[in-house]
Amino acid sequence: MSAALYGLDRLQGGQRGVWLVTGCAGFIGSHLIETLLRADQDVVGLDNFATGHRRNLDSVREAVGAQAWSRFRFIEGDIADPAVCEDACRGVRWVLHQAALGSVPRSIADPLATHRANATGFLNMLVAAQKTGAERFVYAASSSTYGDSPQLPKVEDRIGRPLSPYAVTKYLNELYADVFGRCYGMQTVGLRYFNVFGPRQDPAGAYAAVIPRWVAAMLRGEVCTINGDGETSRDFCYVRNAVQANVRAALTTRDDAVNQVYNVAVGQRTTLVELHAALAREVSRLSSGLVVAPAQHADFRAGDVRHSLADIGKARELLGYEPSHTVAQGIVEAVPWYVAQYTPAKG
Ligand SMILES: NC(=O)c1ccc[n+]([C@@H]2O[C@H](COP(=O)([O-])OP(=O)(O)OC[C@H]3O[C@@H](n4cnc5c(N)ncnc54)[C@H](O)[C@@H]3O)[C@@H](O)[C@H]2O)c1
Repeated sequence: MSAALYGLDRLQGGQRGVWLVTGCAGFIGSHLIETLLRADQDVVGLDNFATGHRRNLDSVREAVGAQAWSRFRFIEGDIADPAVCEDACRGVRWVLHQAALGSVPRSIADPLATHRANATGFLNMLVAAQKTGAERFVYAASSSTYGDSPQLPKVEDRIGRPLSPYAVTKYLNELYADVFGRCYGMQTVGLRYFNVFGPRQDPAGAYAAVIPRWVAAMLRGEVCTINGDGETSRDFCYVRNAVQANVRAALTTRDDAVNQVYNVAVGQRTTLVELHAALAREVSRLSSGLVVAPAQHADFRAGDVRHSLADIGKARELLGYEPSHTVAQGIVEAVPWYVAQYTPAKG
């Protein structure tokens, strides 16, 4: 893994500081701590295991080794508690705030829980980072903020109306971050992730994302369900691209790059039918003899946007972001992990 690719080379030359990654036991957060620890950084992680898992922390520990792991401090706690946030932020230079309850359908089923983590928890983190003097606050925003805007590709300054409580909370994050820049001179960067996927993304439960859910179903020999006609499309983004965007956002020295929001994606549109075919090919290739059944179709899901495709020109220009992985390259890296973890035992 190249330090230059991640922008981590900026840290060479004596600059040191502690990173805080919230949501570190989750999918994206665990990749962030792994990258930072591999790059000899000091990292604090905060998580309450609402949707994250200890096994993700265990696998990072195994991957980075004991010496790197000794530079990691884990705090089990809830960002809905302001005191927990302040404790986690103390002495921290860069915050990468990932903790939230993901999933549009979850937010429709339980808007209060989503609001508590994503809105109240976010504000608690912002206040804590401001109070403790963190240099920069990078946070996970979302492509759901584009809501009902039909425009393609999505450009940062043209959004529609939110289509779910989840989208409301993620837009609220952007509004608060912007206002904290104006009122307190805070440096924030919002990263509107577009369907991030990769190893450690949880395939279990009603709110699992489509790629892990389908790969795990294929491995069990089950039929995958496509919501709608299958022409719904997404800009699927491999997790290493999201990691790169975080590190670049935290370390950029360009004044005009901060207090901004950016699309984090590949700029490549894949329909659900195409995705199913690509995953089926890779699963069959790796699990010799496994024949993946054709998908079945069900109703469209409430709150889902029809098409999603990012213009990533702004992140390219201001952050120097360049996706290292296309969707196909991401699938080739991600599927073997699922095959290793989720192939049912024979017999
Ligand atoms: N994965 C995607 O495609 C995607 C797309 C857009 C935005 N995002 C955002 O990226 C971030 C990370 O998502 P992810 O896919 O890694 O999800 P994830 O569920 O794997 O990780 C989220 C982590 O936050 C933790 N968390 C939740 N509520 C918490 C609380 N109250 N206190 C402390 N920790 C809490 C969870 O336990 C979990 O470990 C989230 O903010 C999500 O909304 C993700």
